[in-house]
Amino acid sequence: MEIVWTIGYAVVVALAGWAAFSMEYYARKARVTASPSVPWMRKAVINRMKAEVEAAGLKAPVLFELGSGFGTLALAAAKECPQMSVVGYEISPVPLFFSRLRAFLSGYKNVKFVSEDMFKADFSKGDVFLTYLTMPLMADLKPKFDAELKPGAIVICNTFHVPGWTPVREETIQNFVYTLKVFTYRKA
Ligand SMILES: C[S@@+](CC[C@H](N)C(=O)[O-])C[C@H]1O[C@@H](n2cnc3c(N)ncnc32)[C@H](O)[C@@H]1O
Repeated sequence: MEIVWTIGYAVVVALAGWAAFSMEYYARKARVTASPSVPWMRKAVINRMKAEVEAAGLKAPVLFELGSGFGTLALAAAKECPQMSVVGYEISPVPLFFSRLRAFLSGYKNVKFVSEDMFKADFSKGDVFLTYLTMPLMADLKPKFDAELKPGAIVICNTFHVPGWTPVREETIQNFVYTLKVFTYRKA
């Protein structure tokens, strides 16, 4: 019996070590950690997303979450807009595993998480884009947004803006500690 506990313990320690190494490796590779949006920013982004979708009269939009991490934003979007198809792009295996597990447990049928580099995705297929990334990544995304987004596409950014683009709306979200921004863009 003792051998079973020893093996079980060794497996758990090995898995935890691999997960920690993997998270660190992909954070360096991706130039951003998998930190989820904080609850008040998630609420602000989702409320903005609902308002923009309604204002644009989109009946069954496709939403891409670029760098979906643990699935926090994508699952909230799928819950709030059941008519929407939500696709989360994520390259880091540990958050991807948990986002898929959460999607399975939630039972939402309108959300999926793909193990794919967002820079290889076809942005012309999306109507709404959510980001919570870093400035170097936003700068790298800009030419792809310029080239591929269809006219009228909605881009909503948590904290980090699209450099060189003028937002149609810039909201300041004040918390007891932080002042953060939500930037909303419409592709011309
Ligand atoms: C700050 S987290 C955002 C998590 C989530 N969007 C949220 O708001 O809760 C950024 C995520 O983007 C992912 N990421 C960075 N570059 C990526 C790329 N090229 N393709 C797919 N995912 C990427 C990272 O692995 C990380 O999990």
